[in-house]
Amino acid sequence: MTDRHDIDASPTGDLLPPSSGREAPSEAAPPVASVPLMDPARVYPQWGPQAEQLAIDVLRSHHYVKGPHVAAFETAFAADAGTAHAVAVDSGTDALYLVLRAVLDKRPADARDVILPTFTFVATAGAVVNAGGRPVFADVDPETFNLDPASVAARLSPRTAAVIPVHIFGAPVDVAALRDVVPEGVFVLEDAAQAVHATLDGRKAGALVDAGTFSFYPSKNLAAVGDGGVVTTDDDELAATVRALRDHGQTRKLYDHEAVGTNSRMDELQAAFLGAKLAFIGTWTAQRRAIAARYHAAFADTTIQTQRLPAGGDSAWHLYSVRVPGRDRMMEALRAAGIGCGVYYPMPLHRQSCFVPYAPDACPNADALAEDILSLPCFPGMTEAEQARVIEVVLALLGAHEGRVGQGREGAAGVSV
Ligand SMILES: Cc1ncc(COP(=O)(O)O)c(C=O)c1O
Repeated sequence: MTDRHDIDASPTGDLLPPSSGREAPSEAAPPVASVPLMDPARVYPQWGPQAEQLAIDVLRSHHYVKGPHVAAFETAFAADAGTAHAVAVDSGTDALYLVLRAVLDKRPADARDVILPTFTFVATAGAVVNAGGRPVFADVDPETFNLDPASVAARLSPRTAAVIPVHIFGAPVDVAALRDVVPEGVFVLEDAAQAVHATLDGRKAGALVDAGTFSFYPSKNLAAVGDGGVVTTDDDELAATVRALRDHGQTRKLYDHEAVGTNSRMDELQAAFLGAKLAFIGTWTAQRRAIAARYHAAFADTTIQTQRLPAGGDSAWHLYSVRVPGRDRMMEALRAAGIGCGVYYPMPLHRQSCFVPYAPDACPNADALAEDILSLPCFPGMTEAEQARVIEVVLALLGAHEGRVGQGREGAAGVSV
């Protein structure tokens, strides 16, 4: 019997079909019946065996927190990101919260505005509120889907303490354009939750501005077996403060609390697993980039709008997301054809009821984006045959949709492909 973990990967990452070793090699590959949006099981054979041994080692060490695996992972992650420090924590949400606590605690209570894109996961804004700040939602660029510097400029005030560019879907924000509008003294924190190994002008996400935060949630490009996160920075003082805050504010010695912190530590098991997986992130990102390049080429002459990257930028393609006319019908029809897809995010944060008290301004670009954004399958271990099937179905649906629109008839959901 073969389970998904027995699937092997070729050196190029293309999947080899599982084989019992008895059947004769078949000439024609079976047609692709369905394609998931993502499938972490595909890469398990690469890192799983080592992780299984590490799990036994950690269990038998009886050293579960504040141990050598966390320290080793921090050193490895900082070296990989190109920062002086990496502070491992228990989630991407707490990574944001702890940096914001360090920054906002030093500001007067009425000068703790934090400008962030409205088109992001709720954690970016939730962390601002939980750290004592006021979220100020800025609009996004309709082509990059990332923070629009002009919208940031319009929301800056003497109350602004920080700005959070979010590298949405793994695509780096043009931080130079952002720096041009953000005054000195305003802290810039990149939310790189989705962007491990995204690059801009040869530098990695996490090393682009004053500090960076990452998530290792199980669906992320570098995924924990549970929750995890990390803070990266070159700032010695900030790193020390985040280190203290993640461990109840202890600085000088045990049971000596300088500030009220929290328990946001990463545990030894997660650090061991993440350390094992870090060795593969370059290969997995290269596979995501190859998939994205093929999608880009396939959609070049269609009404599908692909995500534009800044000059000198390369995405980590956490999600391959496009703008599609008639998105909801397309999504329904893709699912009916066995193609996994999803909407990230259907409602921008300035429209969420929990943020109404912060009186957000209008963000029309994000509103429009939420109406037509669609994520397609893109994950390491996805086969070329699977991607060809996705492209075939999308193009067929698109053609049918446009044909019907041309004839004055709406709807592509009934198209058979
Ligand atoms: C943009 C963004 N920020 C923050 C987070 C929060 O990370 P976590 O789920 O690890 O708390 C996520 C993760 O889902 C995210 O996508």
